[in-house]
Amino acid sequence: MSNPPTVAILGGTGSLGGGLAARFSAAGCPLIVGSREAGKARLAIEEAGWNAEPATNEEAAARGDVVILTVPFAQQADLLRAIAPRLGDKLVIDTSVPLVPPKVAVVQLPPAGSAALTAREALGGAGRLVTAFHNVSAAKLRNGQPIGADVLVFGAVDDREEAVALIDRIGVRAVHGGPLENAVAAEAMTSVLIAINRRYKVADGAGVRVTGLADGEGG
Ligand SMILES: NC(=O)c1ccc[n+]([C@@H]2O[C@H](COP(=O)([O-])OP(=O)(O)OC[C@H]3O[C@@H](n4cnc5c(N)ncnc54)[C@H](OP(=O)(O)O)[C@@H]3O)[C@@H](O)[C@H]2O)c1
Repeated sequence: MSNPPTVAILGGTGSLGGGLAARFSAAGCPLIVGSREAGKARLAIEEAGWNAEPATNEEAAARGDVVILTVPFAQQADLLRAIAPRLGDKLVIDTSVPLVPPKVAVVQLPPAGSAALTAREALGGAGRLVTAFHNVSAAKLRNGQPIGADVLVFGAVDDREEAVALIDRIGVRAVHGGPLENAVAAEAMTSVLIAINRRYKVADGAGVRVTGLADGEGG
């Protein structure tokens, strides 16, 4: 396997960002944890014991080879517009799901049609955008146990290949889901999973598993 890229997680102090930071740190990937305040990122790194460097989100975007966005949907477009000038042709993995509190168990889509298409607009051609991790619980990523579910990845095929290989490094099966336009299906599925979690009292989060793939296939 080639040397791992430096991964920058924007909003890495949060639930999903923290779960991903735990996984990338454990996998030995060079890691930058981004926050609105570098001091908050430093504290999160120290408390969790990650092998990572703290930075502001903007610095992290500039320094990472791959940029992963894990901030609430309401902040997604503003942050992408702010970092766009620093991205060049970096791979950008957006995890945003367009949940609208308080009705997060109800599918509510944004004017652009999906969070993925909102992100594409906000980036205005900067970076190589894929979206992923919509249906994976932060708790499962954080506890280091097998996920038992798949991560669907959306975007241009070459960019998806790169993202799938990266996700493979953290012990999670990633499956090509097609172009960005398809991401709306996984985004909507998150609200379905939240409804399932509530109905069946699933503490660490229900997930999605693709059947019919050959053993070991997915990437
Ligand atoms: N949680 C999950 O299990 C999960 C699963 C799949 C997808 N997602 C998606 O991942 C994204 C992040 O979810 P999350 O649950 O991890 O969110 P979160 O913990 O509430 O927030 C993540 C980080 O975003 C930053 N942030 C919070 N409010 C902000 C604001 N007003 N302006 C700018 N930055 C702000 C904070 O970092 P700083 O204060 O350090 O800047 C925070 O630690 C969402 O789009 C969500 O739909 C989450």
